[in-house]
Amino acid sequence: MSIHSEFKKITTETFKKMKVSGEKISMLTAYDYTMASLAEEAGIDAILVGDSAANVVAGYETTLPITLDQMIYHAQCVSRGIKRALLVVDLPFGTYQSDPLQAYHSAVRIMKETGASAIKMEGGIEIKDSIEAIVKAGIPVMGHLGLTPQSIHQFGSFKLRAKEDAEADKLISDAKLLEEIGCFSLVLEKIPAQLAEKVTNELDIITIGIGAGNVTDGQVLVIHDLLGLNKNFKPKFARKYLHLHEQIVEAVSNYVQDVKSQEFPSKEESF
Ligand code: KIV
Repeated sequence: MSIHSEFKKITTETFKKMKVSGEKISMLTAYDYTMASLAEEAGIDAILVGDSAANVVAGYETTLPITLDQMIYHAQCVSRGIKRALLVVDLPFGTYQSDPLQAYHSAVRIMKETGASAIKMEGGIEIKDSIEAIVKAGIPVMGHLGLTPQSIHQFGSFKLRAKEDAEADKLISDAKLLEEIGCFSLVLEKIPAQLAEKVTNELDIITIGIGAGNVTDGQVLVIHDLLGLNKNFKPKFARKYLHLHEQIVEAVSNYVQDVKSQEFPSKEESF
């Protein structure tokens, strides 16, 4: 039996209780009303309006181009589809990194305009002041360490992070710092499972993994990956629960043929 009733809104407090009770947290990205409604109906605990919208919705190579206005639009669409799940929205690249006041204003816009319950930010000590400014305003912050796609040009690739001791040590110290300055949870992306386990055991706040093994307090996936919407994207950590790419292409090609042959619409589908 879950510690929260079916329709009770999930909050950051619920997350804390779930860590204590050992109930794992399920999180997925969504970028629009329909997908968010479906994930909610399926019982998802949290929805992330990720800046991965830049990749899977807008078709960019990286997450860097997406704007705050565009994130707000996606978050508003998602927000209309959910009642129970915790809604977390990414602060996009360039809206928080160097200036705590700008970070505060970006986070406030998301909270005022979308109905989100929390925001997510990538980075450790480098963005300490920005996180503090947001937390001080009473806005829950989810951190994000490991592979942080907004820094892709610094990393040079989407490979596993924190394999070497120096990077692993920095990740551990960043994770502790994020907890200390008030983050309520932390995404750990594409790091060794053992390191994710160590961080999870050493922190009181929730860890959510993606490509970080199964010991984190929860898991997050990009919904397009889970549904198999991209035939050619097969990262090792993303399990495809469906193969919608093939099914959608088949459905649309059947429709094209039916239109050409006047099989569609039939008499029954006509007035
Ligand atoms: O933008 C995103 O989808 C993310 C998840 C991969 C954690 O940050």
